[in-house]
Amino acid sequence: MLRKRFLEGLPNGAVYVPFCGDGDITSELYRARACFCADIDPERVAAAKEKLRGMTKVQVVAADCNAWPFHGCSDRFALVDCDAWVNPYPAIAAFWNSAKKSETIAIVATDAQRENIKRSKHAVKLPECSRIAGNWREQCNFWWLRYVKPWLAGLVAGDGYAIQQESKFGDRYGTMLYWAVILAKRPGITEVAVKRQRKKRARFDAGKQERYLDEIRGGAGHCEAAQACGVSPDSVERAMHNDRALAAAVSAAEVTRDGKRSIDVERALYEAATNGNTTAIIFWLQNRLSDRWQDKRGMGGASLSVAIDQRDVSIQLGCILQELIEEKVLSKDKARALIEKWASDDESKG
Ligand SMILES: C[S@@+](CC[C@H](N)C(=O)[O-])C[C@H]1O[C@@H](n2cnc3c(N)ncnc32)[C@H](O)[C@@H]1O
Repeated sequence: MLRKRFLEGLPNGAVYVPFCGDGDITSELYRARACFCADIDPERVAAAKEKLRGMTKVQVVAADCNAWPFHGCSDRFALVDCDAWVNPYPAIAAFWNSAKKSETIAIVATDAQRENIKRSKHAVKLPECSRIAGNWREQCNFWWLRYVKPWLAGLVAGDGYAIQQESKFGDRYGTMLYWAVILAKRPGITEVAVKRQRKKRARFDAGKQERYLDEIRGGAGHCEAAQACGVSPDSVERAMHNDRALAAAVSAAEVTRDGKRSIDVERALYEAATNGNTTAIIFWLQNRLSDRWQDKRGMGGASLSVAIDQRDVSIQLGCILQELIEEKVLSKDKARALIEKWASDDESKG
């Protein structure tokens, strides 16, 4: 949807598709344009070539897109579709510094840096997203507004471009960011046109802010909470950007929410320890700590949620407790008390 909306009204021009994978997006959306596609994985490149066969003008190469793969290309680009998932920024910088561009150009990208920041508890520096000292929570909360957007604006400003239109949304876990911008060389003229097109936004007034904070305290994620208040996550982010008190209140609400979630997990853990039913906690771990669990235990997501053989419960619980201690959800003393209680209940059951 985001792509389709941004494609409307774009001038003619080539499309650069780094991280093209099997060529699905190119095949679905860009058949009418000249396409320059690249991916680091030769097998996916072969699959993309096959899929895009028959297009009038297409090149698909195996290359690292963190550098510009089409030196000598004389086409002028009107669109970059950067479905990197992890980090599209070095590829965007390489494109910008090397390719010929239309007067108006759209860039669409996906990035998982907020997940990276949350998990590592480290701030990062664009475009490489290498770790640096900094307030990682603040960076996570304002990733687009205070980091990606200014970086992008700085990158393109040197060539006289400015961001004319932007759109973004996150997934429900607040980890992936999908964004799109239209950049243009003559800001004044386009800006007026864009302003006219804009729909009136729902106001994030004091009443809605209270409701938003309640939703967050109650356990909702940012997108869910915004939806419950009838505003867009963008409006919330903008309001937080302009109002330090609101940003602080949201952070406090997050702490309450996470504390509440921890208590729920502890309760569930207690039940699991006494009844031998670990499924609920495993479900929680699958959602919150899926990668670490899969790495450590070599299990796929699906196998985590199935019922567990009674004999494996003690091993499972040991691992769960360890995770919860590492995540600071549970103190070591509390974990020890649970194990002792569980062992003594087990003995009395014979
Ligand atoms: C999310 S997939 C893209 C899927 C694609 N949009 C499609 O339509 O099939 C990400 C792709 O990035 C590729 N990739 C990862 N790092 C890369 C790099 N440094 N340079 C080029 N491609 C890379 C992977 O091989 C993978 O195919």
